[in-house]
Amino acid sequence: MRAIRIDRFGTPDVLDIVDVPEPEAGPGEVLIRAVATSVNPVDDKTREGAIGEGTPPLPMTLGWDLAGIVVDGGSSGFRAGERVVAMSHQLSSGRGTWADFVALPAHTVATAPRTVSLADAATLPLPGLTAVQTLDWLAVRAGERLLIAGAAGAVGGLALQIARARGIRVDALVSRDTQAAFARDHGADLVTTDRHALQDRTYDAVFDTFGAFVTDAVADGGRYASIATQAGPVPDLSSRGVRTTVNQVREDGTGLNELTELVDNGSLRLRVDSTFSLQDIQAAHARFRQGSLTGKVTILF
Ligand SMILES: NC(=O)c1ccc[n+]([C@@H]2O[C@H](COP(=O)([O-])OP(=O)(O)OC[C@H]3O[C@@H](n4cnc5c(N)ncnc54)[C@H](OP(=O)(O)O)[C@@H]3O)[C@@H](O)[C@H]2O)c1
Repeated sequence: MRAIRIDRFGTPDVLDIVDVPEPEAGPGEVLIRAVATSVNPVDDKTREGAIGEGTPPLPMTLGWDLAGIVVDGGSSGFRAGERVVAMSHQLSSGRGTWADFVALPAHTVATAPRTVSLADAATLPLPGLTAVQTLDWLAVRAGERLLIAGAAGAVGGLALQIARARGIRVDALVSRDTQAAFARDHGADLVTTDRHALQDRTYDAVFDTFGAFVTDAVADGGRYASIATQAGPVPDLSSRGVRTTVNQVREDGTGLNELTELVDNGSLRLRVDSTFSLQDIQAAHARFRQGSLTGKVTILF
């Protein structure tokens, strides 16, 4: 079977399609035939060698997101032929999803949304779980006010929609006009590209997706979560009673089920910027690196 591997770090031309043995489902695992995946910032950073400590050894198969069809569900309850999505924490397990067949622990797998294609569903796992888990850490309740910095990015755009579905009032800091239109269309109140526009406002919670560190915006006693690991820690705000974290996404089939339900009930719309075939994996990474994306870069097997 084919797998996307790197045996050295660098620009997209280090991405190779190699022939590797098909995996078998071990105890507690589900064997999935991949239909689609998507490119996340972590894949780009891993390929570049920018992760540093904690990078799996070379050669490695890349990829976190997966949408596909169950080949062998073992004792998991998933049936052969079932459409599923999954997220593999490739950095900690070394188990990349960019391969024709992938064996993953059943707890990382969920039924795919019925109402979208598997190509679209492949945009959901990593960004969606990051959004849900970070919103849960922030413990924002209906009626509270949330600021999302980067509210039209992959994670931020899903967080905005999930927060609105939970009845949370959201303001949005975005990078450019097209992003502002997205945030407005998805229910954000104040939408701005200028952080100074936030200076008279305070929020119960801030969800920071790019290391904005708009810490003045959080109310005393509030919560501030960043996911921008590489931007470093959130400044210590304990003197103001503010809890802070740099949240790290976890494998979580239950969280994926919640996301599937939100897609199927129309609360969560998925966005694709561009789609590439597996043979064009280098072009997919090049598109990702160009930036100014209007959704996810997806890859079809
Ligand atoms: N800790 C974790 O577990 C975890 C999980 C997922 C992602 N992440 C990290 O979180 C970050 C976001 O991931 P993502 O997939 O959502 O990436 P993304 O789709 O690129 O989203 C980032 C968003 O932030 C915007 N942005 C960047 N700089 C900005 C600025 N100065 N002012 C206003 N907006 C700005 C970007 O706008 P443009 O498109 O215009 O640049 C984009 O909309 C990445 O660094 C990723 O590695 C961490």
